Amino acid sequence: MIITPSEHDYTNIYKLMIGCIVPRPIAFVSTISPDGIRNLAPFSFFNGVCSNPPIVLFSTVIRKDGKHKDTLNNVEATKEFVVNIVSEDFADQMNITSAEYPPNIDEFIESGLTPIPSDLVKPPRVKESHINMECKLVQIIHFGTGPGGGSTVFGEVLRFHISDELFDNFKIDPDKLHPIGRMGGPTYTRTTDRFDLIRPKAGEIKNN
Ligand SMILES: Cc1cc2nc3c(=O)[nH]c(=O)nc-3n(C[C@H](O)[C@H](O)[C@H](O)COP(=O)(O)O)c2cc1C
Repeated sequence: MIITPSEHDYTNIYKLMIGCIVPRPIAFVSTISPDGIRNLAPFSFFNGVCSNPPIVLFSTVIRKDGKHKDTLNNVEATKEFVVNIVSEDFADQMNITSAEYPPNIDEFIESGLTPIPSDLVKPPRVKESHINMECKLVQIIHFGTGPGGGSTVFGEVLRFHISDELFDNFKIDPDKLHPIGRMGGPTYTRTTDRFDLIRPKAGEIKNN
């Protein structure tokens, strides 16, 4: 099968991309509006960029009605956000926040998740999350202007909060974190079936 994106509707290309790029980590992003309304939403177009300085990114997609998501509007206005890592035990509550609530609705209240104060930024952290990253906005890059277009938000992590029980000398224990990843459609994955590959040095690799 050969697919040239320009020959297809963007909704099919979206479906294709979320099936091809798997599994995706999930940034559960807390923000606050200029009026002080707390917002929470998951974004699986998410990754790290580099560690010096520590930069993370996530992308918000323009809605079918052409509107930007509340998260993007809040980050643009306040320049701050928190990335909370999602564990399986609160996946259902995370999912609740992905419904399209109007901007005046507090998604901590809707989901029942617990806001706790951040140290360095205004948006609260999610207490149920084992890992929170307090971030300040570095840059936003916009791609496209219509539905399906996107904006990539780059933030610098000013502070990590990590539950003591899963932290050991800067290593995170995945058996205690229970992170989940997103596949295509409504499907998620656990990370319980893992294997190791030791990275070779150049010159050590023999093909036969
Ligand atoms: C697991 C998961 C991952 C998602 N990833 C993205 C994403 O990467 N980009 C995006 O624009 N929307 C994504 N969504 C949808 C948003 O969470 C949803 O549109 C939400 O209503 C946005 O909220 P907001 O308007 O409060 O920012 C995702 C939803 C789920 C459940």
